[in-house]
Amino acid sequence: MAAIADLDRIYPTFDEIPDEFRLESPLEQTDYLLDGEIRHWQGPVQKVHSPVCIVEPDGLARHYIGSFPLMGQTEALAALDAAVHAYDNGRGLWPTMPVAKRIEHVQEFAWRMKEQRDRVVKLLMWEIGKSLTDSRKEFDRTLDYIKDTIDALKDLDRVSSRFVFEQGIIGQIRRAPLGVALCMGPYNYPLNETFTTLIPALIMGNTVVLKPPRHGILLFQPLLEAFRAAFPAGVVNTLYGAGRSVTPPLMASGKVDILAFIGSSKAGDVLQKTHPKPHRLRVTLGLEAKNPAIILPDADLGLAVDECIAGCLSFNGQRCTAIKIIFVHEKVAERFLQLFSAAIGALKSGMPWKPGVAITPLPEEDKPGYLGELVANAVQQGAQVINEGGGSVNGSFFYPALVYPVNEHMRLYHEEQFGPVVPVLPFADPETPIRYMVDSPYGQQVSLFGRDASSLAALIDPLVNQVCRVNINSQCQRGPDIFPFTGRKDSAVGTLSVSDALRAFSIRTLVAAKDQDVNKELLSTIVRERRSNFLSTDFIL
Ligand code: G3H
Repeated sequence: MAAIADLDRIYPTFDEIPDEFRLESPLEQTDYLLDGEIRHWQGPVQKVHSPVCIVEPDGLARHYIGSFPLMGQTEALAALDAAVHAYDNGRGLWPTMPVAKRIEHVQEFAWRMKEQRDRVVKLLMWEIGKSLTDSRKEFDRTLDYIKDTIDALKDLDRVSSRFVFEQGIIGQIRRAPLGVALCMGPYNYPLNETFTTLIPALIMGNTVVLKPPRHGILLFQPLLEAFRAAFPAGVVNTLYGAGRSVTPPLMASGKVDILAFIGSSKAGDVLQKTHPKPHRLRVTLGLEAKNPAIILPDADLGLAVDECIAGCLSFNGQRCTAIKIIFVHEKVAERFLQLFSAAIGALKSGMPWKPGVAITPLPEEDKPGYLGELVANAVQQGAQVINEGGGSVNGSFFYPALVYPVNEHMRLYHEEQFGPVVPVLPFADPETPIRYMVDSPYGQQVSLFGRDASSLAALIDPLVNQVCRVNINSQCQRGPDIFPFTGRKDSAVGTLSVSDALRAFSIRTLVAAKDQDVNKELLSTIVRERRSNFLSTDFIL
């Protein structure tokens, strides 16, 4: 097959990289944002190599694309202090600013961010190997998320711009910030998922320490000036370095009020436990998942294969919402595997800028080896790699492997592979996949494929209590962003949608008074003379 035959020639020489996609030079990123100033780091740095390898005279090498500051505890605490100072126990400029003004700052940031689209998209491609199309989508979706967040906050604020009269009490109820947020996104959506917590945290009046993920750091550099110019000093502070060195001191200080983290439950648990007063900590976590697809005997197999290909292999399977295990009814298993195998063969492999490319190199250095181990473990125990060339490796590139039949003794049954390996199991009784989900430590989503209403309904009812989204005849996914995105068990803490996120990063607080003339007069004066930003009936149009 053409796709696999080209594997040896998948990487370019430097001269073969199209001009428009080349990085002019490595980005030696020494800038960081602290307390409203862009500072220049002079300490140790971490070199960044792209998942994209280059053919060099002496062999293949991951392309060197730049470096970032390797900060330590001192710098971490300085970033935290700046955020604490800007919050000033809720008395700072930002947390007390009228909502309409905060919205203006966020809008200004969005305008400035938009100007950096090409630079950020290029860095996304080079840093994490995401295709050009998907990198552009990630950027544009993030801008849409900012716009939708602003609209949702306006709605929320309009509802709060009135007094409530109840049982002899007059009250005005609003949502207020919580304090300092530590925002950390994942490497697979370093921009989008970081911003889905950063933006709601900011717009609700919290101040932020932003720690980019392990891969996908340089792409924040073009945004530093936008952060600096759009927000008051100390409202956004950036922190770089190894998570294990810089984040524990932040949490141990007890000064972080919100932990917004997308990554592994192991790391999330450690961070949470490091806080001396966990009851003071608001936590929003996006964690592991092993979303199953269940193919019923009457499923439209063409559709099921298309959706499962997208679900399993978009961005090489590196999505928390990816379909990571497929249960196929034994009556249609053979046909499903044939179609799936052919569909993998039709996917384009190559460098992220190649038009129509689906499978690209992987950013984590140890990932091809890890995926190879999972496949070998399954094969040792009786499974086969069904598709031609499945599991072949060239440098950072891993060709997708369709593995069948997988069973409970294999690592692929249990581990979240987060890469282009597709484990498939046959089943005769729908109780088999239901049992899998009941026993699974994860509970994010499931995809059901079938045409019979009663068979689907018989699965929907038990499964809505196992996961937080049941997809019918379509892949698992987070969007649209106004839908709630969450999970049960070890898959998530808290819910993120555009409007839920505003709630996650704020707390309801109210001003109340007895319904007496003297109080009414007082409240009227405060509102009429605009003496308070909180107590106000201003309506944002
Ligand atoms: O990695 C997890 C992402 O939230 C998935 O989002 O389903 O839109 O790709 P997505």
